Amino acid sequence: MKKDLLSLLDLEKEDFDSLFARAIQLKKRYAKGIVDRPLVGRTMGLIFDKKSTRTRVSFETAMVQLGGHSIYMSAKDTQISRNEPAKDTARVLSRYIDCLVMRTFDHTRVEEFAKASTIPVINALTDSYHPCQILSDIMTVIECKGGYEGLKIAWVGDGNNVLNSWINAAAVLGLDISAACPEGYQVKPEIIEKASRKGKLNVTFTKDPRTAVENADVVYTDVWASMGDEAELSKRIKAFQGYQVNKELLEGAKPDVMVMHCLPAHRGEEISEEVLEGDSSVVWDQAENKRHMHKAILERLILGN
Ligand code: CP
Ligand code: NVA
Repeated sequence: MKKDLLSLLDLEKEDFDSLFARAIQLKKRYAKGIVDRPLVGRTMGLIFDKKSTRTRVSFETAMVQLGGHSIYMSAKDTQISRNEPAKDTARVLSRYIDCLVMRTFDHTRVEEFAKASTIPVINALTDSYHPCQILSDIMTVIECKGGYEGLKIAWVGDGNNVLNSWINAAAVLGLDISAACPEGYQVKPEIIEKASRKGKLNVTFTKDPRTAVENADVVYTDVWASMGDEAELSKRIKAFQGYQVNKELLEGAKPDVMVMHCLPAHRGEEISEEVLEGDSSVVWDQAENKRHMHKAILERLILGN
């Protein structure tokens, strides 16, 4: 596995499969009360330029449970806010800590940090990608469906960072994805081109949510306005009419469909209250699995095994 986890295109199929297996094993061991502390004496730093509940807390908890320590740095409290160059901050932090988890706007920023760092840099969400989210999401799919092969995964909503990471996973794992995004909110061609260079894509794009959801095993949605897009919310609400994941839309999916959302959810916008809280929804398991998957990622990158 590469030094950093910036995009799922950094991983090979064997990397995905070993992370899934280890995360599932760590989850089972934790439930039995077995203590795994391979990261005693190690330190994880987090630099977050955007808000977070799940990703921050699950990374911090994962590190502590593995025996390590974590330091959260909001950009505004560090010299970053006084324009210390990324390449300087990265080299200094590399002398103190064992890995750096970053959430920021422009994806080139995590690339800049990774280039100058001698420690692993992990992307905890950028405007372009959310790789760790999709790793824990596929882990949830494996737990519910016994595997990811042969499933139809439908995406309904914005062509955003979360969908981009699903497309990257599809390039490596051969996932069958059908994505419905409204006009003007589709996935950027360069995302598709980059993923296609990694592997053959079995991803179809449509503007019709019904077509995407037809016979789907998994239906995934996310907010209509991501962090950074909030000023466009009212315009987006108009553009996304008809793209809500609700009971009526799910009638076309398989009867045992799993409904997924990375959260936070906006009930009544991209998903109905009834579906979010209904029997098909696995959103709370998804949120929990972030902690187990982040343990597997930290262990693998910090120990290099
Ligand atoms: N799903 C997710 O990344 O949530 P947070 O923004 O709360 O970290
Ligand atoms: N697409 C969302 C995901 C939040 C976890 C955003 O970027 O805000």
